[in-house]
Amino acid sequence: MNYDRQTSFDKDNSTALPWFPRRIRDLDRFANKILSYGSELDADHPGFTDPVYRNRRKYFADIAYNYKHGQPLPRVDYTKEEIETWGTVFRNLTKLYKTHACREFNHGFRLLLDNCGFREDNIPQLEDVSNFLKDCTGFTLRPVAGLYSSRDFLAGLAFRVFHSTQYMRHPSKPMYTPEPDVCHELLGHVALYADPVFAQFSQEIGLASLGAPDAYIKKLATIFWFTVEYGICRQDGELKAYGAGLLSSFGELEYCLTDKPQLRDFDPVVTSSTKYSFTQFQDVYYVAESFESAKEKTIKFANSIPRPFGVRYNPYTQSIEVLDSKKQITNLMDDINSEFQILQNAVQKLKL
Ligand SMILES: [Fe+2]
Repeated sequence: MNYDRQTSFDKDNSTALPWFPRRIRDLDRFANKILSYGSELDADHPGFTDPVYRNRRKYFADIAYNYKHGQPLPRVDYTKEEIETWGTVFRNLTKLYKTHACREFNHGFRLLLDNCGFREDNIPQLEDVSNFLKDCTGFTLRPVAGLYSSRDFLAGLAFRVFHSTQYMRHPSKPMYTPEPDVCHELLGHVALYADPVFAQFSQEIGLASLGAPDAYIKKLATIFWFTVEYGICRQDGELKAYGAGLLSSFGELEYCLTDKPQLRDFDPVVTSSTKYSFTQFQDVYYVAESFESAKEKTIKFANSIPRPFGVRYNPYTQSIEVLDSKKQITNLMDDINSEFQILQNAVQKLKL
């Protein structure tokens, strides 16, 4: 098999373009590139002086460092203490979901309850969740030891891969974590990856990031922050949360729907230049009319990124096609023609 899918653009401009993964297994190359919160903890982390917790974190970091694409995600025997922490977070957050979370989240969460072992006394396994999401939207999970660079994290989304932590926050503060943990991923993020439009929206952010200049990676990471992490949407005249940072934080989930924060319409140009806080509740939230409209706006914004080629994800080969030559464009047109014929045929049969 020819793994080298270099295009004419690469050959001519190999130094000008930031490297990006072309095949899904290229994501293996990121596994050790953790910026923070791998097995090392900052001095203000609740677990910094706890040797047992630090040892446990090393165990989880090693799982992620050694993971390779195509392997099952290792199952973890969570301790009694970890399950109790999960139970506290689960019990408190799920009280708010009905009233505070968007429709698509509540639908996805119901499916997780029914299919993936989401219970107060059980921490679901990433492998089960990943297999379930794959059936829904093609999204899969990969274990990650800590925080990636924005470029690496966003690149995963282009392949419909979500990098997920697997460790639990420190038991001394069950309702607080200074970093993403398994509660944040499983209670905040994964339900929406069962929704096809949200999945497409996330993938568009990832595709836009491939080969983009650093300044635009920052903008895309900010868009991700104000949507996938802290997004609010309007449904039937009411504001609802869809961001994972909100849906995994009891305090901020209540706060974001009060009249205290400022609300602005989601506009990628404005949103991408807004400053945000990692440590405090947000001053401003951006409101999407729908995932469909957020997706369309993001695609438009992506077109403004200075990049001398288009990209397309090929789900059959799980690879990125760089559209930078006449042949590539012709192939794409042929594919679209075939799809269009399927559409025409179906429309005729339905006599629309
Ligand atoms: Fe997150």
